[in-house]
Amino acid sequence: MMHTGCTVLLGFLLASAANAENPLQNDPHAADVGRGVFRIYCSPCHGIRGQGARGPDLTQAISGSGKSDDDLFRIVSEGSPGTEMPGFTGPLDEENRWRTVSYLRSIAGQRPAPLAGNPAAGRDLYWGKAGCAACHRINSKGGRQGPDLSRIGSARSASYLRESVLTPSADITPGYNAIVVVQKDGKKITGVERGYDNFTAQLMDSKEEFHSFDKAAVASMKLESRSLMPDTYGKLLSASELDNLLAYLSSLGRPEAGK
Ligand code: HEC
Ligand code: HEC
Repeated sequence: MMHTGCTVLLGFLLASAANAENPLQNDPHAADVGRGVFRIYCSPCHGIRGQGARGPDLTQAISGSGKSDDDLFRIVSEGSPGTEMPGFTGPLDEENRWRTVSYLRSIAGQRPAPLAGNPAAGRDLYWGKAGCAACHRINSKGGRQGPDLSRIGSARSASYLRESVLTPSADITPGYNAIVVVQKDGKKITGVERGYDNFTAQLMDSKEEFHSFDKAAVASMKLESRSLMPDTYGKLLSASELDNLLAYLSSLGRPEAGK
């Protein structure tokens, strides 16, 4: 009798979760078990303590965002369409997905916002002296050699953005490697990858012109594991300019970050 009652109660809680809170919110072990699940499934992108890596810093992203437990559960289940955040209905059952939500709540707001810089000064730098707009678009303005940065502040952690600016070749955004082709007359053409296989290479050069090559018709073609983004910003920018630039990048796609 007891057993049936519990099952019915659990079923009710799971069903009623559609419009409300975490059904495990009174389970004192949920966040602990969720931490273990997080380390296996989430830490490759969000860092071992959720502090962010190539994926956003979840100790901060969640607290200011007004997201409910149910919103978080939906993101963990379905992913965020059109972004690198995958859904986990396959690898994780419903209870384990709720446990990761419990864990996320336990770390939310744990760390203060670390950005010392001034985003307005960073914006001036970005569109001016630092020349970033030559290769990157923000809200449809700018160049196309590099990835669109309109939402980069909600897609990446601050530490990852710093690394992207200082050592661009350390972790190349998939689909944005450099391609170098040497033609039979010795002419060398360098650009960003737009397609590459054993027989052909497509690239976009710094004038945003598209080129397509057959391997048989050129002296050599190579997909390089380096970025076309200059690796000299650590020298060109002062420490405070870099902080300002990062504050600007971190605000992109995160309206709450400006507050
Ligand atoms: C393959 C990398 C990857 C994995 C694995 C991953 N995430 Fe994400 N996650 C991301 C990225 C990238 C974003 C930012 C998406 C965007 O551009 O808005 C994100 C966003 C999120 C958000 C939304 C944050 C916000 O701003 O509201 C939550 C919550 C989240 N992830 C939780 C998880 C949990 C929990 C797991 C493990 C079950 C997980 N993620 C696994 C890459 C990943
Ligand atoms: C000559 C073109 C060029 C310039 C100039 C340039 N970038 Fe890039 N950037 C790229 C390319 C190509 C990539 C993708 C390869 C990689 O990951 O480095 C990239 C990648 C990035 C990324 C990582 C994006 C992601 O999806 O994770 C960030 C952030 C970035 N650039 C910011 C900047 C900033 C800020 C500036 C100015 C200080 C700048 N870039 C100047 C070409 C450029």
